[in-house]
Amino acid sequence: EIPVLTIDGPSGSGKGTVAARVADSLGWHILDSGALYRLTGLAALKAGVDYDDHAAVAEIARHLPVRFEADRVYLDDEDVSLEIRTETAGNNASRVAAIPEVRAALLEWQRSYARPPGLVADGRDMGTVVFPGARVKIFLEASAGERARRRYKQLKDKGMDVNLAGLIAEIEERDQRDRNRKVAPLVPADDALVIDSTSKTIDEVVDLVLQAVRK
Ligand code: CDP
Repeated sequence: EIPVLTIDGPSGSGKGTVAARVADSLGWHILDSGALYRLTGLAALKAGVDYDDHAAVAEIARHLPVRFEADRVYLDDEDVSLEIRTETAGNNASRVAAIPEVRAALLEWQRSYARPPGLVADGRDMGTVVFPGARVKIFLEASAGERARRRYKQLKDKGMDVNLAGLIAEIEERDQRDRNRKVAPLVPADDALVIDSTSKTIDEVVDLVLQAVRK
């Protein structure tokens, strides 16, 4: 059986960074499931498909013309690596992610990422829906203020133009939608280890996660 470590949590909890560091340290593969929802949102937008047309958005998710190459992502032949990382793309991802048919369309594809020697899966429903039998499940939390502050710094560092008040409002809106949606709402799996990263450094969180894997 291929070992899977799931890391779920809200935006700005540090999931992405922790998942990358842990995968690196274990030599395991990584699944950034949020990227698939971001790509679906963007591809639908580019195709002029309305997010209310659930069947059409699901059709796009099922046949995403995506190519991952080192640290770049291409949609058809366009490099969308930066475009999928904006707050707008995150918000659009959360809108298409609330569509049950879209989640169903991405399910088997996500499961196919589980390959030897192991997989670190980063998302919202990795431990609850996609890999319910995962060996170790982590749920990363942090206060809303701290998550907004981290996100702000992250976007600034990438040279993006951000407004802190607007960012906080967007993060709250996205969280509400992710937590309250009917399919795969953002909740910890029953058997998840919940880590509050508010006053922890990345190194401290990475150590806690590695300890849980090695136990
Ligand atoms: O980096 P950040 O946590 O802000 O976003 P992300 O992980 O790329 O996810 C973007 C959006 O995709 C989230 O707000 C969720 O609505 C959705 N998502 C999901 O529904 N299920 C997942 N497994 C991953 C992301």
